[in-house]
Amino acid sequence: MSELGSLPCVKNTVSVKTITDCQGAWEGAKSAMELYEKLTAQGDHVRALKTAKAEKAEIEAAVQLLLKLKVDYKHVTGQDYKPGCPPSENCVAADNGPAADDSDDEDIVDPWNVSTKNAKGVDYDKLIVRFGSNKIDKELVDRIERLGGQKPHHYLRRGIFFSHRDVHQVLDAYEKKKSFYLYTGRGPSTQAMHVGHLVPFIFTKWLQDVFDVPLVIQMTDDEKYLWKDLTLDDCHHFAVENAKDIIACGFDVNKTFVFSDLDYMGASPEFYRNVVKAQKHVTFNQVKGIFGFTDSDCIGKISFPAIQAAPAFSNSFPQIFGTRKDVHCLVPCAIDQDPYFRMTRDVAPRIGYHKPALLHSTFFPALQGAQTKMSASNPNSSIFLTDTPKQIKNKINKHAFSGGKDTVEEHRKHGGNPEIDVSFMYLTFFLEDDEQLEKIRQDYSSGALLTGELKKILIETLQPIIAQHQERRKQITDDVVKQFMTPRPLNFKF
Ligand code: TYM
Repeated sequence: MSELGSLPCVKNTVSVKTITDCQGAWEGAKSAMELYEKLTAQGDHVRALKTAKAEKAEIEAAVQLLLKLKVDYKHVTGQDYKPGCPPSENCVAADNGPAADDSDDEDIVDPWNVSTKNAKGVDYDKLIVRFGSNKIDKELVDRIERLGGQKPHHYLRRGIFFSHRDVHQVLDAYEKKKSFYLYTGRGPSTQAMHVGHLVPFIFTKWLQDVFDVPLVIQMTDDEKYLWKDLTLDDCHHFAVENAKDIIACGFDVNKTFVFSDLDYMGASPEFYRNVVKAQKHVTFNQVKGIFGFTDSDCIGKISFPAIQAAPAFSNSFPQIFGTRKDVHCLVPCAIDQDPYFRMTRDVAPRIGYHKPALLHSTFFPALQGAQTKMSASNPNSSIFLTDTPKQIKNKINKHAFSGGKDTVEEHRKHGGNPEIDVSFMYLTFFLEDDEQLEKIRQDYSSGALLTGELKKILIETLQPIIAQHQERRKQITDDVVKQFMTPRPLNFKF
């Protein structure tokens, strides 16, 4: 069965982050009121379709538009959409019975939006079911440990990388002494990356070290040009600057190729051929279903997913793999990127290639809470790789959502809740010592550890990590970046 056909993907995706990000989809919706009216009309439309028992796909597409409008509305007004409560009036919505659709309790996870109403964050178990991926279970972690010969990375031990597709196939190949390669990427939309962006790269570096395999890193400067209000030169510049942060994670120049789409597409006929092959085998209907594109989206966006698909096919990199098209590819990323790879996996066998395997991570949450992921566009939601020790301290003390109680007395009596506490969540990503982390969890839950003390531990954990990153980044000169970004053979054992 087609991978796309088997997945309830439409509901999980919307195509734009904000109205300003995308002049296409809601061009006409200039004011909050216009947006409100569109939302109301779309809610009516969804209800009418359901009443008329319309085709499932039609209902799902309509619900998806509704979700997108809700996200945009929230972004523009700072409020949740409430039927019967226009944005200009501070009214309390009347209880008009059930909401316009049944999507309200559903987490939104796609390449442009991550949001949930749950303070603990996205329900990842549910997401596995909705996306049709597989949980990373103990058996898989043990197998990675056995084959790699190293203690599993704490991201694996703690379920931060929690879901996968077909990783056993890659490990089967590896066991038979066939190599595979790693592929990951970054959409360079700003000069500074945030700590959340480090997560897939830290893990990818660990995989590269453990399995000794080549890695390709795609910098989608073209994607950011298409989606954001930026010039091509801006995007290309950000690609090179972000590449420095990525290289500073410690990748081996003999095993790593970093490329900007704007440069590599023109330089590699083999890469472009795979882009065109993918484009020919995916219809507009399919990308609408997966990504929520609408008739008003520019055609660049509509065809872009094929460009993110192409690096998953080994013959896109003849300088590394020659003409071989059968080298397995493993993609580590956060789960927001999965829609791209559902499409890639659907198309791969139809154009004669293996499906790429995937390892998905959870999201590093915003400082304000796990309802959304850290975002580069909101400076107070994120800790940037450029932040000074003082900025890190102030941001955590001021903005990190606390699971502690309102008063010291109450906290001592009832304890805090680490499950919703952002400082604790950050420690799960960055404090490697399992015993120390467990002790902090117990002390915070019992009330022995206060919120201020927990924040102090986080500050003292993050400050040196970021400072060391900045030190390493300083060593990455333009010449070093050029080396990484030059198409060339890599150490690759056939
Ligand atoms: P981008 O730049 O949005 O994100 C880069 C990588 O970081 C992950 N990520 C996060 N991980 C944990 N917590 C967060 N808060 C967080 N925010 C982002 C993303 O999942 C991604 O792995 N279109 C892509 C670029 C790309 C790519 C790829 C990514 C091209 N090819 C292959 C992964 C794999 C993008 O804009 O990523």
